[in-house]
Amino acid sequence: MTMNLATLSPTRAPPAPRAWLGPQLRDDEFVVGLPADCLAELDAIVEEQRRAPVPTFILAPEHFEMSACRRWMAGIKQRLDHGLGFVILDRMPVGRWTQRELTDIYWLLGTLLEPPVAQDWPGTMIYDVRHDGRPYTGETRTALTPEGLDMHNDSSMGEAPPNYISLLCLNTAKSGGKSSLSSAYSARDHFAQEHPELLDRLYKPFYRHHQEYQAANAGKTNWYPIFGTEPDGGLRIRFNARVIRRGYAKTGQVLDNEGVQAVDIMDGFLGDPAHRHDFFMEPGQMQILNNRFIVHGRTPYVDHDEPEKRRHLLRLWLRAGDRRQFRG
Ligand SMILES: [Fe+2]
Repeated sequence: MTMNLATLSPTRAPPAPRAWLGPQLRDDEFVVGLPADCLAELDAIVEEQRRAPVPTFILAPEHFEMSACRRWMAGIKQRLDHGLGFVILDRMPVGRWTQRELTDIYWLLGTLLEPPVAQDWPGTMIYDVRHDGRPYTGETRTALTPEGLDMHNDSSMGEAPPNYISLLCLNTAKSGGKSSLSSAYSARDHFAQEHPELLDRLYKPFYRHHQEYQAANAGKTNWYPIFGTEPDGGLRIRFNARVIRRGYAKTGQVLDNEGVQAVDIMDGFLGDPAHRHDFFMEPGQMQILNNRFIVHGRTPYVDHDEPEKRRHLLRLWLRAGDRRQFRG
């Protein structure tokens, strides 16, 4: 998937629901209960897997009766594309299903949105977001550490970022690990109103740090704009302030003054409590985000001592329209 630089335009106005401010949101606008008819279909799939299991990766919705789930997920997709851009599905029966069974169902529900794709160059399809207790460095993918995550969207420097990302919560931390979300449409409105002189700069490229999970021969410069326009006219953001700053540090290039201001103001806007929505995930809940225009972050956390209790989320990246490979 590539963005056509010729089509980039900062002028198109977004539909109102996509440009939200966190404190204005009510829980019932984004928390969606698991309908009883969907749960019955999912329980039947779990039963079938208990009778005659096959590996998670070959499970496909067309192999099962999932008509209620199909209708449900079609409505979820509408919310992701034309509503707030995120939902919390509440929730999978974590007490009744094993982790393997939860993973099977999670895979199938995700597939109903768009196909799961590899989340790193070696091809990890279901990503364990957790810290295994081992030491880490600045090169380590931050999702695998207990560090806080600044507001970003996934694969902001990548060749083929996912359209949607989802997280299934299996275990929560002893303390911390609060999730935050912000809307790129709101950020764009802010620039248009308060800093119009910087808006064009956001549509021009920035260097990005080439992180360790990219292909060894991926573009060394990772030269992408922060704002781009999708073929349907929608906004796509590629933002991670840390990755941009490291991109300049690593290449030895100097970020121009407008670029410095644009990144600082963007980072400040997205992370501001007056703009973002904060929440804690609970076991069994699934968070799904439209990665084109929802950015996310996380506070640092302190984990349980017992390995089996440690904070653990399962992540899927979903992307239709090209191949399942990390590089698209
Ligand atoms: Fe992320």
